[in-house]
Amino acid sequence: MSLLRKAETYILNNKTKLVDTWRPQYHLAGEYGWINDPNGFIQYKGVYHQFYQHHPYSSSWGPMHWGHAISNDLVKWDYQPIALAPDKPYDHDGCFSGSAIEHDGKLNLLYTGHVYGDSDKSKYNQTQCLASSADGIRFKKHSKNPVIGESMVPNGFSSADFRDPRVIRRNGIFYTLVGSQNDLGYGQILLYKSKDLKSWQYVNSILENNGSIGKGTWECPDLFSLSGHDVLIFSPQYMMPKGTEFHNLHSSVYIIGQLDIEKGIFIGGEPRSLDQGFDFYAPQVLVDDNKRCIMTAWMDMWESPMPTVEREHNWAGMMILPRELKIKKGRINCSPIEEIKNYRKNEFKLTDVDIENEIELLTSGDCYELKAVFENNISTVFGVKIRVGANEETILRFIPEMQLFEFDRNISGEGVGGIRQAKVEPSDGKFILHIFVDRSSVEVFINDGEKVLSGRIYPQESSTKIKLFCDKSLKLLELLKWDLI
Ligand code: FRU
Repeated sequence: MSLLRKAETYILNNKTKLVDTWRPQYHLAGEYGWINDPNGFIQYKGVYHQFYQHHPYSSSWGPMHWGHAISNDLVKWDYQPIALAPDKPYDHDGCFSGSAIEHDGKLNLLYTGHVYGDSDKSKYNQTQCLASSADGIRFKKHSKNPVIGESMVPNGFSSADFRDPRVIRRNGIFYTLVGSQNDLGYGQILLYKSKDLKSWQYVNSILENNGSIGKGTWECPDLFSLSGHDVLIFSPQYMMPKGTEFHNLHSSVYIIGQLDIEKGIFIGGEPRSLDQGFDFYAPQVLVDDNKRCIMTAWMDMWESPMPTVEREHNWAGMMILPRELKIKKGRINCSPIEEIKNYRKNEFKLTDVDIENEIELLTSGDCYELKAVFENNISTVFGVKIRVGANEETILRFIPEMQLFEFDRNISGEGVGGIRQAKVEPSDGKFILHIFVDRSSVEVFINDGEKVLSGRIYPQESSTKIKLFCDKSLKLLELLKWDLI
């Protein structure tokens, strides 16, 4: 039996063993087993495709396959057969991350073939490989893979850590960004070009790095144009915290600038966080038929213990709710995709409520959208508590005096605790929290997407209360809540 068939059969035979407790209801998770990075995020022939790093045989990372789901609205996803399995000599230890592009009507995937040294797993080699499909479902690997092999890695760069090709098209030519590191261990992004996706030529390492942006590989590069700028995204390993940013083991950053594609030089500003929560990694952006720049990402973090693994729920890993990106005041601004509004049910509304200490809402839930507009009162700490139950709650707190927002999951339930923070720009007397809660996740958009914080939480099923609080008194101008799905 082929490895593809074997994986599909395994999923089919085991699907009933999934434990539902923390399974997302309106976010994408794998059909079974483990998932990490989104891959090949694209709109192809009008349909959205999201592939993902996938180990179908357990809820832990293992030889990577590409799982696949499609959607018409980026909310409801339908699983497809596994797209890639590690079944060739050049990828037999994993089909690692990569991207998708349409060419001559076909859907093409460029991905990393991962191969370990004979007996020593600390030694490995990574090359870039091509697979194509006429129907967007069944993929055929190119007969001359790898298309970017070890001999095309320039001197001074790693051919072990050489992965996650992001293919784009500019002026009719294909370009690929590949994540790597140089001999000093400083992250790099290498640029290649091609006329046909098969024969590639090295251009340059596009961004200077003196070691200040993480230690190790710059994983999962991406590049897109937005409002006349080029936006470069990548996920630097082991970045040191700076102020309220970069507090996770690995980070995902953007730089707004300009890429001289002929020379292969990117000039831009400072790297900034795309999300200041606990769980966000390896984002990918697609530009859809309506010219929207839409981002997805893995809503988990490497080396964070996952309760769905510990409790043998037979799945692990999920994606964010896709976000639309814009540039506002020189920064990336994120908003939840419009389409989610079609899933709103059971509206609950409050206007002009005076809060003293704490109030419990006459609504509750574990899958909802909540938008609260507070008067920005400098003299009191205030916020929202969600997934509140016996001895547990997740606290979303604003400290106006310091213009500081906090996502506190210290007593959220199972899993790791901690606090993540974000500095918020002073606004015109209002503070807006827009929150998306799913069975084991929270995404908070502050002041119309100026900052976003995402994180996984693992509360008890019965912890569904919602509370508003302040330490003095405060006016809630408006609150809207909808159940989702
Ligand atoms: C990022 C990453 C990629 C790699 C993949 C392997 O999370 O480490 O660099 O291709 O995951 O699953």
